[in-house]
Amino acid sequence: AFQHLMQAPEDPIIGVTTAFSKDPSPVKLNVGVGAYRCEEGKPYVPQVVREAELRLLNDLSRNKEYLPITGNPQFTGLSAKLIFGEDSPALNQKRVCTVQCLSGTGSIRVGAEFLAKHYAHKTVYIPIPTWGNHPTIFTVAGLEVKSYTYYDSNTRGLDYEGLLRDLNAAPSGVVVLLHACAHNPTGVDPTADQWKGIQKLIRGKNMLPFFDCAYQGFASGNLIKDAFSVRLFAGDGGECFVAQSYAKNMGLYGERVGALSMVCGSESVAKRVESQVKLIIRPLYSTPPIHGAAVAATVLGDRELFNEWKADLQGMADRIIHMRQLLHEALKARGTPGDWSHIIKQIGMFSFTGLTKEQVAFITDKFHIYITFDGRVSMAGLSVKTVPYLAEAIHIAVTT
Ligand code: LMR
Repeated sequence: AFQHLMQAPEDPIIGVTTAFSKDPSPVKLNVGVGAYRCEEGKPYVPQVVREAELRLLNDLSRNKEYLPITGNPQFTGLSAKLIFGEDSPALNQKRVCTVQCLSGTGSIRVGAEFLAKHYAHKTVYIPIPTWGNHPTIFTVAGLEVKSYTYYDSNTRGLDYEGLLRDLNAAPSGVVVLLHACAHNPTGVDPTADQWKGIQKLIRGKNMLPFFDCAYQGFASGNLIKDAFSVRLFAGDGGECFVAQSYAKNMGLYGERVGALSMVCGSESVAKRVESQVKLIIRPLYSTPPIHGAAVAATVLGDRELFNEWKADLQGMADRIIHMRQLLHEALKARGTPGDWSHIIKQIGMFSFTGLTKEQVAFITDKFHIYITFDGRVSMAGLSVKTVPYLAEAIHIAVTT
């Protein structure tokens, strides 16, 4: 029955890890996927997550019954507070419907399915470039995907004029996907003033902002600072969608912990939205999984653990910044042609190096260093030991 099937291509991000796993080389290095590694290059589980898990394990009153379709209510309440703030007017007015979903991807997908079914406009504008999964998620949900200018490869910064021009030219009412902070893959974010300009345009054209928030606390190390853009939009009385992921900031990657918040026009709309989003979730996966959300809720709901988590986040953010400095210095020390200052200017987990597809292929082939084809390097995958190796590989790739 399936003779006609063609071999599908590997995923451009997950496929890099698959290729890395198959490589027997002892010097291999994976800076493809966005996953934080400790100095020894090993996957990292924050101590606070281990502590929360121990507490859960020792709590014999816990069971394995189904969660509600909307997820763990303690988790969704705390998640909403984390992104919108304790004193958020939208939360106080009960205009927000938050549901637990399967990490960032699952949250965006549920939001996209909801929009395809219930929103008048069936088009979403995504930045160029963006996370590789974005266009697919919206397309399979049934929305038409269009793009707006975001990155300027000459300045290696934001093309703010281009962004405003393209969104101005877009029809009123469409959905606009925004990265809340630490834009993936570029590591380039709008300034506070630029965010206000974007807000003015989006609100003026009655567009629906849909935030992908995968790096709260990871961009600056500060949870409040990284929530600036979302709080700006959620605080102006208008509507917006926010997809939160705890993969990176709590190191809960494979636990698939996330939330979708839909900020609505009123409390009664939010209630009806919740009733409808349940109809989307139920046939998809029925109810979300228990464990990861319980871990996140334990951390978010306990002052001591929460503070420990904040220190962990700062530690991870600082280590990434240190890696940026080291890589920048190493390239400068080698006299590698080009201006590499973007490595220290970009924020978050990634550096959008500007390496070409051919240079990436060369580096992978000759040095067994795995990078996504767009030249994005996960700075969180580097260590003091591996930076010189990567710098050497980049130097040779650029000068050959
Ligand atoms: C990434 O961009 O590397 C991460 O968000 C992991 C993924 O699922 O692609």
